[in-house]
Amino acid sequence: MSTTETPWWTERYARLAEIDPAFAGAIDSHAEDQVELMTQLLRLEPGARVLDLGCGAGRHAILLAERGMEVVGVDWSEPVLELAADTWARRHADEAGPRFVKGDMRTPPVEGTFDAVIAMDVAFGIFDDDADHLQVLSAASELLAPDGALLLELFNPYFWSHAAQTRHYPAGALAADAHLVRSWRFDADLGRVEDHITVFRTGAEPETVPPQSLRAWTPTEIRALVQAAGLSRVAIHGTDGWRTPDGPRRLDAVSSAFMWVVAHP
Ligand SMILES: C[S@@+](CC[C@H](N)C(=O)[O-])C[C@H]1O[C@@H](n2cnc3c(N)ncnc32)[C@H](O)[C@@H]1O
Repeated sequence: MSTTETPWWTERYARLAEIDPAFAGAIDSHAEDQVELMTQLLRLEPGARVLDLGCGAGRHAILLAERGMEVVGVDWSEPVLELAADTWARRHADEAGPRFVKGDMRTPPVEGTFDAVIAMDVAFGIFDDDADHLQVLSAASELLAPDGALLLELFNPYFWSHAAQTRHYPAGALAADAHLVRSWRFDADLGRVEDHITVFRTGAEPETVPPQSLRAWTPTEIRALVQAAGLSRVAIHGTDGWRTPDGPRRLDAVSSAFMWVVAHP
């Protein structure tokens, strides 16, 4: 099992937060669509307790709290947690909001049970060793209320296996004052999607952000992993390209970039 001494994600997410807070995860219409779909799929009502693992800059945690839910966001990166707390404070001044806690999703530092445990934007998939992923799922399984639900947003490997691509984001698109070139590549041997980002600023040398490599399980593999953690009734939904649909949609091998895995205790 890997340790958290010097994981690559510590440096990557801190660096993304420094380059531009918005790049680390701004609340946009995409996040709003995701929260709308998860509210339907997980039947979340005001008052529901939600645990957001790898919550990043809090885009889902904040929108869920704005819908009246009691949310705890756990992330390993302090800079992104600060962004999350600042965003809430900007939107709601002195009102109490989500609780943002530094911690490892394998051993979330939380108490009580939750109606939902979520891990969005492939926050689940970060480890090199599946024993670590299983530890996250086992922790989630223990934290879920008997009628609670787990939601994982993951890559659909069938899509990514043929969708290697490079995108240019001009200044203002993702980072306010920098051009970014981002490329994704599927490693068939490892079953992972690698994501490389280079930052170009006027008058400066190009900067390479520490690359990201995330596990992309097939539906059969992820179903087995989720069930190994004691969860059941696993349902797998698909996105419409990169877009989150406005209701549950069947996973399509070719056109769904992401899959939404829902499971229950
Ligand atoms: C791809 S980002 C997703 C952030 C957020 N869920 C979103 O959709 O905007 C992955 C997040 O997982 C966090 N992370 C990585 N390893 C972690 C760990 N072991 N425990 C908790 N958080 C972790 C990173 O710091 C990063 O914020």
